[in-house]
Amino acid sequence: MSIDTSDESLDSTLREDRIFPPPEEFSRAAYVKSLAEYEALYQRSVEDPEGFWGDVAADLHWFSRWNNVLEGEVPWVKWFAGGKLNLCYNCVDRHVHEGRGDKVAILWEGEPGDVRKLTFSDLHLEVQRFANALKSLGIRKGDCVAIYMGMTPELAVAVLACARIGAVHSVIFGGFASNAIVDRVNDAHAVAVITQDTAWRRGGEVKLKAAVDEALPHCPTVRNVVVCRRTGSPVTMQGGRDHWWHDLVKDVPAQCPAEHQDSEDPLYILYTSGTTGKPKGLVHTTGGYAVQTYLTSKLIFDLRPDDVFWCTADIGWVTGHSYVLYGALQNGVTTVMYEGAPTYPQPDRFWKMIDDHKVTIFYTAPTAIRAFMKQGDEHPMRHKLDSLRLLGTVGEPINPEAWMWYRKVIGRDRCPIVDTWWQTETGAIMLSPLPGAIPTKPGSATRPFPGIVPEVVTKEGKPVPAGQGGLLVIRKPWPSMARTIFNDPERYVKTYWSDIPGSYFTGDGARMDADGYYWLMGRVDDVINVSGHRLGTMEIESALVAHPKVAEAAVVGRPHDLKGQAISAFVTLEEGHEPSSELKEELRAWVAKEIGALARPDDMRFTDSLPKTRSGKIMRRLLRELATHGEFKGDTTTLEDFTVLAKLREQDE
Ligand code: WTA
Repeated sequence: MSIDTSDESLDSTLREDRIFPPPEEFSRAAYVKSLAEYEALYQRSVEDPEGFWGDVAADLHWFSRWNNVLEGEVPWVKWFAGGKLNLCYNCVDRHVHEGRGDKVAILWEGEPGDVRKLTFSDLHLEVQRFANALKSLGIRKGDCVAIYMGMTPELAVAVLACARIGAVHSVIFGGFASNAIVDRVNDAHAVAVITQDTAWRRGGEVKLKAAVDEALPHCPTVRNVVVCRRTGSPVTMQGGRDHWWHDLVKDVPAQCPAEHQDSEDPLYILYTSGTTGKPKGLVHTTGGYAVQTYLTSKLIFDLRPDDVFWCTADIGWVTGHSYVLYGALQNGVTTVMYEGAPTYPQPDRFWKMIDDHKVTIFYTAPTAIRAFMKQGDEHPMRHKLDSLRLLGTVGEPINPEAWMWYRKVIGRDRCPIVDTWWQTETGAIMLSPLPGAIPTKPGSATRPFPGIVPEVVTKEGKPVPAGQGGLLVIRKPWPSMARTIFNDPERYVKTYWSDIPGSYFTGDGARMDADGYYWLMGRVDDVINVSGHRLGTMEIESALVAHPKVAEAAVVGRPHDLKGQAISAFVTLEEGHEPSSELKEELRAWVAKEIGALARPDDMRFTDSLPKTRSGKIMRRLLRELATHGEFKGDTTTLEDFTVLAKLREQDE
């Protein structure tokens, strides 16, 4: 991985003195009630990690107990080796058996306003039926099943049904284009795809089944497609391959025993953007992932039996996996799912939903908060929001202004805020306040979760003193860490475990202050974070050069008020093609079609050549400076051709 510590984001750390102690009333009732209690818990967790995590694991249901809590050396560790469990069983059956069957498990609202509530008993029934439907198609333990759906209750059912029979799910975000399906399905050799006709989004329809149809001629491993009817829009069904969900579940038995999964059996693959080429399929396994999603949900969101927990993430992202589903359901709370756009049909949709459903905990992304902030306080102020008791954020650094707005206008100065830092690779939250225990500072993810040992280091791996920026690493293994990149263990080692020997390298810059609080400063590699979504600049570049008129492309991120980062593209054209604003639009639309709308470049410049070092590497740092400031400040001594810079700058003026 190329690490660019010259990036100025490392210096632009926020200096923030405000501090908010947990509200007394909140602390009194919380699981962890004071800083001293947190510190004692943390101390124990690092002195005796096996004892600590073993105790947590004992809260879950195991068919048979593990032999050792932790085995092996990083990166090849095993958690709870030899233990047998089923995560679907822990999310669903356990609550039914323990008398909570009538409680609402999934509270779903569609974009048109239709509401469905599934109790744990309903979910139990639906998941078993669908698990049997999957089996009737010949799907077995260990098979990979791709899921390409909108946010419907059936999406949750599909994920849990896979977990139940030991099929490895690979959820593909419904906002991705059909190419993304091809890459992901082929990489994981998925044998089936679960999809739906279309999904509602901002009053329009996202044609999910049509995208699957476009992808599948290029996916030789897929034998079956299951189609859930959501909107009723017409779709073409291919005989022998495509099956309606409602037909499949009609004639199957109502009972399907949960497979006894080994703790280290894979639970899912989730693709995420990296610094090179195609997205990588991170593999999460069962036992450790269950334990850490369970405990982080419980302590960070301070979950109580009557909580209504709303994590607004799409299940296509890791946050949806770990917190909409697995973490919340293991804790037996009601989890809210919403199908559509946050501001549709009115800017106050979310606030109305919070009041309608008496949401108690609300967890969303800074980019959404900034967008709400811009729309004006009148929208949330029209609503009571008095059911809320805790707020959370995830996905990117939150600027203190947005944090303060969130606290005041949504939390009414009453609710603590948990700013949670983690990654697809970490599987669960790693840095976050515990809301009853740790005083918060706007913009800081505060302290490590028990059992997590982070450090800020130099490129050489030496700890940097408090107050200085550096690279964020994790020193010790943790239960929910991704175990590998599917089919590419070498890339896993190279990407995460080679830059700083013996440690996991996060790809993020950070600073720890004198109180031991962590301040995240964004990525230090070629990953950009657009509205909380990770995109590899290489991926967008590959899409651009796949266009017949493009010779070369470089993509960088630049700061953006609402999205966190915006995408700037620099493009050189093939002989015979001239720059034009039409071509710009054509290329932007092309990227949206190749990858998905979220990857559409915000701005694009044409250039005769790109600035490169003498060894031929594109000097992204210079392009970043140009995209951000319209000028270059850094060192250009290794630049091959100085006239390139002058030309690029001219175009900007
Ligand atoms: C960024 C999302 C600052 C970070 C769970 C990380 C954050 C990447 C925060 C992972 C936060 C996530 N503060 N930055 N609270 N949370 N990030 O894999 O750069 O989609 O490396 O996982 O998002 O994104 P991913």
